[in-house]
Order: sequence, then structure tokens, then C-alpha cells
Amino acid sequence: MSDLRPKRLLGKVVVVTGAARGQGAAEAEALVREGALVIATDVEPEGDCRHLDVTSEPDWVQLAAELGQTYGQVHGLVNNAGITWRARLDEVRPADFARVHAVNVTGPLLGIQHLAPLMPPGSSIVNIGSCAALTGHYPVAYTASKWALRGVSKAAATELGPRGIRVNTIHPGFIETQMTASAALAFRDANIRETPLGRTGTVDEVAPLVVFLLSDDASFITGAEIPVDGGLTAHGGVKSFSDALRSETT
Ligand code: NAI
Repeated sequence: MSDLRPKRLLGKVVVVTGAARGQGAAEAEALVREGALVIATDVEPEGDCRHLDVTSEPDWVQLAAELGQTYGQVHGLVNNAGITWRARLDEVRPADFARVHAVNVTGPLLGIQHLAPLMPPGSSIVNIGSCAALTGHYPVAYTASKWALRGVSKAAATELGPRGIRVNTIHPGFIETQMTASAALAFRDANIRETPLGRTGTVDEVAPLVVFLLSDDASFITGAEIPVDGGLTAHGGVKSFSDALRSETT
């Protein structure tokens, strides 16, 4: 049966970074389903992805030039590419700290700098943060990079607002992807214990919010930060109090 709903992103040109797998791939698919013309990019030469290393300014310059020539305009950017590094405070090396920062912070900054000039009013940028950006999560390089990305997002929302360009941030909790598959089982179990919905999330539970934020349905939403984390960051660490008392009284 054909889907008769109006497509929400018809005619919009949208760039997604880190789209070869995981959340980026799901976001690209969801955007295409809503009628967007998606330029899926990744540093890994996988599938139909166009090569783009988010840390490389020449890559962004080339992409912007090509998109300007081909489409004239870009209406959306999803800064999804990201890497983690699970060294603790006493272990992390400056080189690793800088590498994580380059992908997770400088990458989105470069994307915004080079694609915003092609964006007409009504365009939308979505940055993929993390629940680590709302907490004192132990992998310090990753946590610091995602907090920094919040700063880039807020500044960009302020700077680009007068041009009618919106900038919002999504903070996923534990989502089943290759990134989390590489984590220790104890990490996964602890996440589930701290998550009020009592489970991990899927890529298809993040992608719909990306679609919404890129669409005109979100036309007055900018500078916002929205967790998609099953409630993980909502309780500020007090879920264990509730759990302990519940198990004592039942
Ligand atoms: P993933 O590891 O499955 O996918 C990340 C993608 O980014 C890969 O395709 C990878 O090749 C690409 N990438 C890495 N470095 C790149 C670079 N320099 N240039 C271009 N592409 C690059 O991870 P996942 O889970 O899909 O992550 C997507 C985003 O969500 C990341 O920003 C991550 O930090 C964030 N996130 C993920 C969570 C999770 O539980 N999976 C939780 C919170 C945030």
C-alpha cells in the first residue's frame, strides 16, 4: 500500500555526516523517506556514501563548492559523525583528547561554517550530542567534546537565527550501534539500570526527531537540546534511590 501522507522534506537538500552505518545511516534513510535529497557522507568508503572526513577543511570546501554548483542551496545539515574514546581521566593522552575533539567538535563547526553560506531562511542544522554532554560521564575526552559541541550549537543558533537558520542538538542515550557494541557488558547493564524505560534504544528511535527538527514543523525551535535517552538524564542520578526503596517495600 502506498503511503499517502505528504512528505515533510520534499525538495530539501540535506547533508548527513557519518552516514555509512549506525544512527547516520538510519537518519539518511528516514530523510529520504520524507522526500529529502540526501547527501550521505562518511570517512569510510561504504555503500553509497560520498567521502567526507569531517575534520578536513578541504573536504568541506570541496563539498560546499559541489553542492553550490549542483543545487545552489543546502537546506539541512546533520552533524552526526562522532567517535568515542573510553580512557579515564588519569589515562587519557593529549593526542587522543585532541583527536576526539577534532571529530566531535571541529567537524560540526567546519560543517556549519562551510554549508551555512548556502542555506536559505528556513534551513535547519541538527547536531548529535550525547547524554555524556549532560552529565559527568567517565570517558573524559568524549564527555568534554560533547559538552563543547553544546557550546558550538548554542553559539551557532544565536549567530544564524537572524538569517532564519535553526540549530538544535539531540542527546541520545545508549543506542544499539557499532559504537556501543564495543563497550563492556557492565557499561551496557549500568546504562539499562539507570534508564527509567529499562532498556537500550534503537537508531529508529532517534531518526524521527532528526526528521522533525529538519522539517518546517519545527519552524520556531532553535537552540534546543532534546535527549532521546529513555529518561537516563532526567533523574539526575536519583533513580537508584527510587529503585532501592521500591525493592525494600515490595
Ligand atoms: P557508529 O560508530 O556506529 O557510527 C559513526 C559513524 O561516523 C561511522 O560511520 C564512522 O565511519 C563515522 N565517522 C567517524 N569519524 C569520522 C570522520 N572523521 N568523518 C566522517 N565520518 C566519521 O556510531 P553511532 O552510534 O551511530 O554514533 C552516531 C553519533 O551519535 C555520534 O556522534 C555519537 O557520538 C553519538 N552518540 C551515540 C550514542 C550511542 O549510544 N550509540 C550515544 C550518544 C551519542
